[in-house]
Order: sequence, then C-alpha cells, then structure tokens
Amino acid sequence: MDSDDRNDGEKLTEQASGFSRRDFLKVGGISLSVPLVMGPRTIRVAGQDVKIYGPGKVPISLNINAKNYSAEVEPRITLLDTLRNELDLTGAKRVCDRASCGACTVIIDGKAVYSCTVLAIEAQNKKITTVESLMNGDQLHPLQQAFVDNDGQQCGFCTPGFVMACKAFLDKNPHPKPDDLKTGLGGNICRCGTYVGVRAAVMQAATGQSAMSSLSDSLENEGGQANG
Ligand code: FES
Ligand code: FES
Repeated sequence: MDSDDRNDGEKLTEQASGFSRRDFLKVGGISLSVPLVMGPRTIRVAGQDVKIYGPGKVPISLNINAKNYSAEVEPRITLLDTLRNELDLTGAKRVCDRASCGACTVIIDGKAVYSCTVLAIEAQNKKITTVESLMNGDQLHPLQQAFVDNDGQQCGFCTPGFVMACKAFLDKNPHPKPDDLKTGLGGNICRCGTYVGVRAAVMQAATGQSAMSSLSDSLENEGGQANG
C-alpha cells in the first residue's frame, strides 16, 4: 500500500467516525494542559462505602496559622510540599524528606510533626502552625529572639524546624530543666552543631533571661561527673 492509499484509508475512517486525527490532537492537547481536579469516587467494600481519592488532583482546604487556604493537589503530595510549592509558605525546609532531620517541623494540633511525613489531604480539619506565624509585624517572637541572642543558628537551614520543635516543647513544658531539653529536642538535627546555643535559647525563652550561664554550669557538672 503506498502513502496515497494510506491517506485515502485514513480519510475514509475519519469521515465514517466524524472525528479527525486533528480533532483528536486538539482534544488531547486540551486535556493535557487543563489540570484534572476531581472529587472522591466511592466504592463499596465489605458492605461499606469507601471514598477513593486521586490519582489526579483533588481540592483540599487547610487551616494554617488560623487562616483557611484552598489548594488542588494529588493525594500523594505531602503537607511540606503543599506548604512550600502551592501556598508559598517556605519556612519549613525540605532536607531529608524522610523523617530524619526535623527541618520540616510544623505544629499540628499542638504536636511537633515532620511535615514531610504527613499527606496534605490528611492534614485537613487540623490546626497547623508554621514558623511564619511567630513574628508580630517586625517583632521577632521571644523564642526567635532567644535563638539570635544565644547563637542558636549558623547556616540557619535547620533553624525554622528547630524553632517550631522548641515552641511545641515549651508549650508543653513551660519550666524545663536543662536535662529535659536533650530528650525533648531529640528529633531535630543540626549539621552546624548549634545544640548548646539552641538549648540556651529555649532556657532563655522559658525564663525570660539568658540561660547561657546556668547551661554552662550544667554542662560543666556533666563534664565533671564524666571525668570523675
Ligand atoms: S525534611 Fe522532614 S524530617 Fe527531614
Ligand atoms: S544551623 Fe546549619 S544546620 Fe543547623
């Protein structure tokens, strides 16, 4: 069959279907460029209706820092990526993306949570607090100021997550002892090694005064016991 025969064949098929290859390409192009946003489908499992979301984008709403946000995301997308990529809330940092470092820490319903381990769709109907909520105009939150005063950061990449972990810790333990901080903040890692400054910052935020001296005393005691 030569090319003319093939073209004739295609023309006959198009005439019969009333739908040309050009029409198909146009419709295909439209469906690729318009994101498909769908509500959940329901299937019957063990006598119960179960909602199925995705794999396309679904509409979600999130309460973040006492404000309601709407977004359209695939159900597999994490809260961290939704905050950063959809809502322009970039305080939480994406470092390990696998629940190891704490750079993505936010507070959900009062608990410090790695936002890289929570799906955005799961975070609906919860109270989410991010580091963006802490400043009051140009005024740093006392905990943020304490980080500055005590050199609680170097490169700063872990700092927003650390600040939120410290806030969740202080909300539950407003009068911590220096020893409590080691376990209370154990979920966050700082490659620059600012742990002493971070602990001092938390003590300052808790007591309202610089805690460097009392922390140094405690570390000296520890050293004394270790050497003794
Ligand atoms: S980025 Fe989430 S724990 Fe490291
Ligand atoms: S300040 Fe650099 S990783 Fe913590």
